[in-house]
Amino acid sequence: MQQNFRFKKAIVSSGPTREWIDPVRYISNASSGKMGFNIAKEILKWIPNLSYVHGNVSEKYANVEGAKNVYAETTFALRDALLNELENDTLVIMAAAPADFRPIMTAENKIKKEATVGLMIELEKNPDILMALNASIKDKNYNSSVLIGFAAETEKLEENALGKLERKGLKFIIGNYVGKSNAGFGEVDSTIRIFSKQGMVKEIVNQPKEILAKGISDFLKENA
Ligand code: PMT
Repeated sequence: MQQNFRFKKAIVSSGPTREWIDPVRYISNASSGKMGFNIAKEILKWIPNLSYVHGNVSEKYANVEGAKNVYAETTFALRDALLNELENDTLVIMAAAPADFRPIMTAENKIKKEATVGLMIELEKNPDILMALNASIKDKNYNSSVLIGFAAETEKLEENALGKLERKGLKFIIGNYVGKSNAGFGEVDSTIRIFSKQGMVKEIVNQPKEILAKGISDFLKENA
């Protein structure tokens, strides 16, 4: 196995989080975990100490052989699990799709249909995990750790990705379009664009996620 001595550890997050409305309903999104799973498999080839921290992914993307596999259900739990895994000299790749909002309260029992005339679900913002990781890196002087984010966009990919790169303190951000017809999510072929502060530095057009993951891993091995 080829080892990269720059990073002692890698963390790859993957899949969606769930925020429960009542015991049978939740807020989530269509992330399957395929992207994060394949990235973790590729990164493991050059950073053997790897933690794969995932939400409710498809069963086949729940276990990366040879990695430490950690499950986290909610955005809060995912944040805490990732903060717990973070060390110095760590490469963090945040491919997960955490729910940005959660209901302000979870009903103890299933909400009855009869009670739903005019029902409103009040939401509050979840914490931003990358920002929390960035704050922790600064706080603990983990200056050799590097954060890589994703940007899942339905419009203005470059503009939105560069805004997130800046706000979240990332070295690179990987932009992809997502949408209702499943663009970006699940088994579809996809296009990714990697951005640094200076703009786009790599593009891979319309490929299966196994190929995208290898391209991302090769790029990070050289440049992260
Ligand atoms: O799992 P698949 O079906 O293979 O689909 C792959 C994917 C589309 C989920 C993946 O490629 C992807 O784009 N992941 C990021 C999804 C996302 O949450 O993007 P965002 O643009 O909303 O967030 C920007 C970055 O901040 C992301 O790295 C995200 O993980 C992170 N984030 C988001 C919300 C939050 N509360 N905290 C975060 O740190």
